This record gives sequence, structure tokens and C-alpha cells, in this order.
Amino acid sequence: MSWGSLEEVPEEVSPEVHRRNTTPPCNRFANQKVLVTGAGRGLGSRIAVAFAKDGADVAVHYNTSAEGAEKVAEEIRGMGRDSFTVQADVAKWDDVRRMADEIWRRWGRLDILVHQVGEMVTGQMSWREMKTEAEVRKAIDVDALGSLLVIHEVGRRMYDLQKYGSIVAMASNVLTTGSPRAPQYAAGKFGVIGVVKSYANAFAPWVRVNAVAPGYIETEATKARPDWPKRKKFVLQSTPLKRICQIEDVIPVIMFLASGDSGFITGHTIYIDGGFTMPH
Ligand SMILES: NC(=O)c1ccc[n+]([C@@H]2O[C@H](COP(=O)([O-])OP(=O)(O)OC[C@H]3O[C@@H](n4cnc5c(N)ncnc54)[C@H](OP(=O)(O)O)[C@@H]3O)[C@@H](O)[C@H]2O)c1
Repeated sequence: MSWGSLEEVPEEVSPEVHRRNTTPPCNRFANQKVLVTGAGRGLGSRIAVAFAKDGADVAVHYNTSAEGAEKVAEEIRGMGRDSFTVQADVAKWDDVRRMADEIWRRWGRLDILVHQVGEMVTGQMSWREMKTEAEVRKAIDVDALGSLLVIHEVGRRMYDLQKYGSIVAMASNVLTTGSPRAPQYAAGKFGVIGVVKSYANAFAPWVRVNAVAPGYIETEATKARPDWPKRKKFVLQSTPLKRICQIEDVIPVIMFLASGDSGFITGHTIYIDGGFTMPH
């Protein structure tokens, strides 16, 4: 839609249209210690490698993707940075404590946490398919409980032991739209924001806590959805910037919130959805 324009608006544009003057890797995170959760595959693995390209040492968390996580850590070590893998089910408090202890045992500090683990419930195409309590609990446990436990355990160490740190969590633009497909996913992501706001207050003034809220990102999980071709068409039609969010659109915003460039921002959520949720 473009009420102010007399010109035809294309159905889809190339990402290059919006990629002018982006910041190339410039060692911005040199000597910084970063933990990326869910980094054994998909978006998380790309975030981990991007931080390493920009100078950081990266702890690669995984739950079940052990092999993928080891490959990511190897790739990062190949760049001359320090990297190791650490396993934890984020919905289990003992696991999360062990993960945090392991980071401080190895490094004695952590500058940045990117907590991007999430349960997308990609097999469910409608609220009608929500059948068992266990399925519902899974999404809420991974997103709401998981972000609570991870931010609590990592953030409290940043606060108590070093009095600095930056935390970035992964929400979604379902914060505005809800999710008629999977209401439990939206409940989980609202939980993430409750956690972000609570700890942004609790950990101030030393540790900042923020979130990103992307729209549909073209990740492996999204492309595997049976309804994706149809959904993609709808998303393009409803997105003023006329393209689907790419991982490359998300990473720089996470890096901005992780870095001192956003030093006076806390408790905030940045939407990355090409205007999908903007009234238009
Ligand atoms: N794709 C999108 O369109 C989109 C849009 C907005 C927001 N997001 C968010 O972006 C994040 C990544 O999305 P994605 O598409 O890359 O999803 P994905 O492919 O399903 O990846 C999920 C990640 O979460 C980890 N994970 C799941 N359950 C876990 C648990 N109990 N404990 C620890 N780790 C667990 C997985 O680790 P293992 O493989 O090691 O088990 C995996 O790394 C999620 O938070 C998602 O909600 C995605």
C-alpha cells in the first residue's frame, strides 16, 4: 500500500534495497565474552559466528544440536577466537545454573548474553490443533520459563560479580498481533517481555536488558512449515517494505542492543518486521 504514491508498488523487493551503508565487521566486540543460546543451528548459529567475526569470544549453547554446536565452535576457533560448547535445557533450573557456572569457571566474566532460544510450534497450523497440555506447556516452558531462568542466572552473576553486562532476548511481533495459529507461542513470547522488563528494572543501573521482536524470518524452521508458500504471499502483501525478514536483518539490531551504542536503552523491544505491525 502507498496512498501517497501514484506509482505501482512491486510485490517484493530485494534486500539490497535496504542494505546501503551497513556496518561491516570492525572488531567492535574485541575481547568481549558472549554467550549465544540456541547456537547449534539456525538463527542462533549465525548470530554466534557474526559476533566472532566482529571480534568476540563466543560460548555456544545448545540443547539437542550437539554436533551443530561443535561445528560452530570450531568455525569460531578457526577465526582465532575462543569458543566452547555448553549444553542446557533452558526449562530446567539445574541445567541453566550449570551453564552459567561453566561460563564463569572458564572466563570469570560475561559481557553479553544473547538469549534467542525459542519453541516455534511449527507443526501446529491452527489453535484447533492444540490438543495436549504437554504441547502447550512446552512452548511456555521454553520461552517464558526458559528466558526467566537464563536471564536470572546469567544476569545475577553480571550484576553481583562484575556490575556490567548487556542482555538481548528474542521475542516476536506476535506481541502485537497475537498468534491465532499457536496461542501458546504468543503466551511464551509475552512471558519473555515480562521477564525482560522485570530484570531491566531489577538489574539497573549495571546490566541492561532488551529484546528484539522480528516478524516472520526466513529460517529453516519457517521454510519447513507446510503453509509457508501461502503465508509468505500474505506477509509480503502486508509488509510495507515488501520483503521477508532475513537473518541479516536481525543480527545488526541484536548487535546494536548488545553494544554500548545502545548504552542508554533498557527494558525496550525493537520490532524488526518491515512495518508489518505498523497501522497502514
Ligand atoms: N523464524 C521466525 O520466523 C521467527 C520470527 C520471530 C521470532 N523468532 C524467534 O527466533 C528464535 C529462533 O528461531 P528459529 O526459527 O531459528 O527456531 P528453531 O530453528 O526452531 O530453533 C530453536 C532453537 O531453540 C533451541 N531450543 C529449543 N528448545 C530448547 C530447550 N528446551 N532448551 C534449550 N534450547 C532449546 C534449539 O536448540 P537445539 O537445536 O540444540 O535443541 C534451537 O537452537 C526463536 O526464539 C523464535 O521464536 C523466529
